[in-house]
Amino acid sequence: MGWYLVTGATGQIGRRVVHQLRQQGFPVRAWVRLGANYQDLVDAGAELYFGNVTQREDIWAAMGHVSYIISTHYHAKDILNIHLKSNLHLIEVAGKFGVECFAYISGLGVEQYAQNAPLIEAKLAIETALTKSSLNYIILRPTLLNHYLLPWLEQLQKTGSLILTGDGNLRHSWVSLDDLAKITIQLTQNPALWRQIVPVGGLTPLSRWDIIDLYRKLTQSQPMIIPVPLAFLDGVRWGLQWLNQDEDLGTLKILLSHEFICNESEQKRLQNQLNIQLESLEQFLQRYLGLDHSGKE
Ligand SMILES: NC(=O)c1ccc[n+]([C@@H]2O[C@H](COP(=O)([O-])OP(=O)(O)OC[C@H]3O[C@@H](n4cnc5c(N)ncnc54)[C@H](OP(=O)(O)O)[C@@H]3O)[C@@H](O)[C@H]2O)c1
Repeated sequence: MGWYLVTGATGQIGRRVVHQLRQQGFPVRAWVRLGANYQDLVDAGAELYFGNVTQREDIWAAMGHVSYIISTHYHAKDILNIHLKSNLHLIEVAGKFGVECFAYISGLGVEQYAQNAPLIEAKLAIETALTKSSLNYIILRPTLLNHYLLPWLEQLQKTGSLILTGDGNLRHSWVSLDDLAKITIQLTQNPALWRQIVPVGGLTPLSRWDIIDLYRKLTQSQPMIIPVPLAFLDGVRWGLQWLNQDEDLGTLKILLSHEFICNESEQKRLQNQLNIQLESLEQFLQRYLGLDHSGKE
């Protein structure tokens, strides 16, 4: 069985990928940083690799016996070095080591929204490098992740109120981290599906107002919603720039001001090819927030 190298193994996506790979019995080298929270990866039987993705020698040293790479590392504060340059170097070195398949987590809309959004711009450049390389690759373009809703919903549960930034009517094909990890792994194991860019999202697009309605239905409650216009974010952006903070608010603004919707028939085809059924947002909310159909928490 070929080894997997998972970068960003202590991140939201990487951690799930490592756990699912280990559950399926694959040998996994989990790339972590000193001081990160990695004990569960050790307990799951992953081999730890300590390194910094910005260091070329660390990338070379990580490659021994690796057949598959799943690249999920990322840091909002240094997209140039920690996302773009490191992935370009990882692609180059993977080619030299004859890696069988390189999976990269990109995002839906990279072609449309790269301008003024550094992370999206970096993703487009990485996608281009991968498709031009001799490597077998899988580029996953997930829509928005269900997990992004959790702090928002936890606030609703705790306070009964919520600040809704931007246009709450924009719809997205939300997808769960667990399904994204499952799809990523299955694609790397299926050579007939390599060298593809694969959008990943749920079948039914929902707006944040739809989700609030779903929450109302599940909890039988009437939360107070405080809408905040997107122009407010522009103010925050200007303020942070003035304070010289290096946050990627350009990307955040893109995520809050556009719909990210997958083509339904494409998603059905993917699910049939992989023989999986994605979890609906309702099932996800029940699972993570401990809500049941009768509305009790
Ligand atoms: N819809 C979308 O387009 C979409 C949705 C979700 C995710 N994504 C993409 O998926 C990727 C992963 O997202 P995520 O939410 O899992 O990210 P995350 O939770 O922030 O995890 C990032 C990981 O990268 C590691 N890392 C950061 N700097 C590093 C360095 N210098 N050397 C080695 N490792 C380093 C972090 O380690 P520490 O734990 O030590 O900090 C962490 O394990 C991102 O590229 C993200 O943009 C796209």
